[in-house]
Amino acid sequence: MYRTNTCGELRLANVGQTVTLAGWVQRSRDLGGMTFIDLRDRYGITQLAFNMETNAPLCEQARKLGREYVIQVTGKVIERSSKNTKIPTGEIEIEVAELVVLNEAKTPPFTIEDQSDGGDDLRMKYRYLDIRRNPVRRNLEMRHKMAMLVRNYLSDRDFLEIETPMLIKSTPEGARDFVVPSRMNPGEFYALPQSPQQYKQLLMVAGMDRYFQIVRCFRDEDLRADRQPEFTQIDCEMSFVHQEDVLNMFEGLAKHLFKEMKGLEFDQFPRMTWHDAMRLYGSDKPDIRFGMEFKEVTDVVKGHGFGLFDNSELVVGIVAEGCAEYTRKQLDALTDFVKRPQVGAGGMVYIKYNADGSFKSSVDKFYDAAALKDIADRMGSKPGDLMLLLCGPAMKTRTQLCALRLEMGQQLGLRDPQKFAPLWVIDFPLLEWDDETQRYYAMHHPFTAPKPEDEPLLDDPSKWGDIRANAYDIVMNGTEVGGGSIRIHDRTLQNKMFHTLGFTDESAAAQFGFLMDAFTYGAPPHAGLAFGFDRLCSIFAGADSIRDFIAFPKNNSGRDVMSQSPSPISQEQLDELQIKVDLKG
Ligand code: AMO
Repeated sequence: MYRTNTCGELRLANVGQTVTLAGWVQRSRDLGGMTFIDLRDRYGITQLAFNMETNAPLCEQARKLGREYVIQVTGKVIERSSKNTKIPTGEIEIEVAELVVLNEAKTPPFTIEDQSDGGDDLRMKYRYLDIRRNPVRRNLEMRHKMAMLVRNYLSDRDFLEIETPMLIKSTPEGARDFVVPSRMNPGEFYALPQSPQQYKQLLMVAGMDRYFQIVRCFRDEDLRADRQPEFTQIDCEMSFVHQEDVLNMFEGLAKHLFKEMKGLEFDQFPRMTWHDAMRLYGSDKPDIRFGMEFKEVTDVVKGHGFGLFDNSELVVGIVAEGCAEYTRKQLDALTDFVKRPQVGAGGMVYIKYNADGSFKSSVDKFYDAAALKDIADRMGSKPGDLMLLLCGPAMKTRTQLCALRLEMGQQLGLRDPQKFAPLWVIDFPLLEWDDETQRYYAMHHPFTAPKPEDEPLLDDPSKWGDIRANAYDIVMNGTEVGGGSIRIHDRTLQNKMFHTLGFTDESAAAQFGFLMDAFTYGAPPHAGLAFGFDRLCSIFAGADSIRDFIAFPKNNSGRDVMSQSPSPISQEQLDELQIKVDLKG
């Protein structure tokens, strides 16, 4: 037997027992007469004691052990004279009688401690060492626990976990596909799934009624802190349901996770239409941990000779409560913030509503105290507050103000990662106009159903931008953690949707023929949703990046720096696939 116990297990109650432990040498301390070693495994750390007086040869051997050596020890559990209250095993130690070196180890390139001295790149290159560290290990343990809770919750509600293929047909909608060449079909490619969307709908046609899968998805898109090229979804689909049934089911799942993982209970999650989310927060994933809602003042500010406001489609602002004391330097920094290319505003107007009731603004030339008071009243501002205003084309300005609002929230400490503010954003637009290609795209995906009352608008191209979808996102702390929709199950409506998206009968049949065919054999009304599992984990842990919750993530350039992939393949492999590589430039 390699071990009788783990390194996290032994307590005072075990004193007197003879045990065998195995693990890694975290560190050793040579105090002359005694040598102490912290032995680590996944479960914790146990102190090993070697006594020079009673067993000099063994003590000598222990002194030679390097960091991260893998060892096995047998000895007696004894009570420690100086106890460590910081770790659960801190009241005992092992008086070692036998020591076996199971494997030596090179000195690791960074310290295997909570606060490591290794930078990001180094830790990614040696991720297997990084995972030995408590913070990363804990994240993976948390991920496992959440996955188990999800599986049990859904299984208890009759969802079947069914695997769907990883080698599928490429579709041009959505993000870019990762493609895989087929040796047996030269010149032809599979795609890795961006999501199992079509398969889960086929499973509904197949009568499976309730499906889920914790499944890897692949998207070749630009990476950010909350995006990886391969990520995991909790993918779900249900038959014979209305939107209300779906929202309740998955709100139930989210509440179950909050309760079990965090001990938190929630009332019904708020629901906000996409339109309101954009109007009040400039985002389809509003962070509602704090207020600071947008206030539109376009009509109040016009007619005072300030050309910029007079000529803007929208003038909109936020009130930063109690910030009238902001200095010139702080205001300049905010102006610089909104002018950064990532935000893209031309500038920012501020109005200080001083505690004594007077005003000071960057537009004093155009607005007297009475006019500024009108603006303050419209914005619900009171003495002591700071108003920040942006102007320009409506949608663009809202997006810019959203960035400013989040920045202010950050500066004022209103975005506490341990506070959780979930909500549903509902009634998304069905279609989204793309200037570049001059056509509409499905905002969610082409199988999303329009709201029945908006269906007639499909016959009037001038109204396409107004059609609302039965589509919903679940948002937490400003991150979209999941999304889904009611699907079109009627072939005629689906064909109409394809035409709206610019497909001909032939191109729709070539892309989605198998799904369309399936729909002619009795498709039940169905709907579903997918959570981004990595994102859900990072939000629950109050972390910024999903990378910390993925065992072997890619870096920002989509590379695995440990295995050095992607990498060129051999000429033999290319020949076998009949692929000619001709790199330009
Ligand atoms: P959607 O594209 O909204 O919907 O994806 C669902 C959720 O997956 C997460 N997500 C990601 N997480 C990490 N890295 C990425 N690159 C990434 N892309 C998406 C998000 C998102 O909310 N088939 C539909 C779902 C449905 O309609 O049922 C779909 O994939 O948290």
